[in-house]
Amino acid sequence: TFADHVRIVEVGPRDGLQNEKSSISPETKIHLVRRLAATGLKTIEAGSFVHPKWTPQMASSDKVLQNILQQPPHTSQPITYQWLLPNMKGLDNFFSIQAQNSTQGDTSYPTPPQSPRHDSGPAQNTSTQNPNDMPSATSGAAAMDSKSSPEQPKHEVSIFLSATESFSQKNTNCSIAESLERFQPLITSARDKGFGVRAYISVALGCPFEGPDVDPHKVAELAASLLEMGADEISVADTTGMGTAPRTRELLRTLTAAGIRNDDLALHFHDTFGQAMVNTLVGLEHGVRTFDSAVGGLGGCPYSPGATGNVATEDLVYSLESLGVNTGIDLSEISKIGDWITGEIGKPNESRAGKATLAK
Ligand code: HMG
Ligand code: MG
Repeated sequence: TFADHVRIVEVGPRDGLQNEKSSISPETKIHLVRRLAATGLKTIEAGSFVHPKWTPQMASSDKVLQNILQQPPHTSQPITYQWLLPNMKGLDNFFSIQAQNSTQGDTSYPTPPQSPRHDSGPAQNTSTQNPNDMPSATSGAAAMDSKSSPEQPKHEVSIFLSATESFSQKNTNCSIAESLERFQPLITSARDKGFGVRAYISVALGCPFEGPDVDPHKVAELAASLLEMGADEISVADTTGMGTAPRTRELLRTLTAAGIRNDDLALHFHDTFGQAMVNTLVGLEHGVRTFDSAVGGLGGCPYSPGATGNVATEDLVYSLESLGVNTGIDLSEISKIGDWITGEIGKPNESRAGKATLAK
């Protein structure tokens, strides 16, 4: 039913923190991810394997991944961690940490790809071959702990490309066609090793360099290509927050007309113009059931000047619950986390629902 089928992807530890200028310690990031994992969230994008010169704040993502692999947080629900990466180098770095922490000690996992998310559901937990099911640590209490945990975490990779050439060059130093060329072997390699793949399409509702009128047919064409290549899910991203309700609706209709299923889509709204919740409702009405958000309304892309945070997870939870959705997320706890992490990095708490919840 509708009530149980809306999924929130928490991107705060990655999108939320990547743009912060002052260095945030790996310990703080780890603490953030571990606290988020305890709120009932089912998916957390926990870091990225990008070039450290391009996005220095994410350079410690290896430590965050290592920590999760060595001591998987105990959760009351199955949980998936996503790791953003732009190319094979990022994937190799991700694989090498996975390998260091696996009992196999190498990356040659002879496994079939995970089935696509939309029909995998509980099956994700039944595969015994997937590397994501392997005990994560090699020795000691952490290994025992994780092995006996009924809720062994899964890991997936997220890739990203742009709907405009200008943003593609700024964000990834290559053309859109070059991005697609990079992704085919990357997706194949990730899936061969049993990792699911999410793909973002940035600036789908407005580009900082080319303006708001991004061609929805281009977005649809890219989504179709990425799915064809084996991506499990497309996250359509309003990087600049320029999206409006009518243009969001038009984009979703164009995607549907091009044969893209709502089950294969996620929506990723930044709230720069305060339209993220409105656009979320348009997405829900259209039948999309996966939405990205960041605790405390943190976020911004370093290569999208002026863009601010993602829609706040607290606001999304509050709104979805009012519509009868069981998010399974503890609003009080997530509000505390939003308040803590924004304070920790010296930012205002951008979540209205979070602040109001704490004031009660
Ligand atoms: P490049 O300089 O063209 O890379 O950057 P290159 O392939 O020419 O390689 C140059 C050097 O970088 C080489 O090292 C590579 O090994 C190294 P050298 O031989 O000179 O010693 N290198 C790497 N090192 C570590 N990790 C890697 C990596 N790749 C190459 N992955 C590149 C191209 C794509 C790497 C660069 O542009 C980059 O890292 N871009 C990422 C920028 C970023 O982090 N943006 C924010 C995330 S996307 C986002 O926020 C949008 C999203 O939220 C959705 C939305 O809202 O739109 C997802
Ligand atoms: Mg983003």
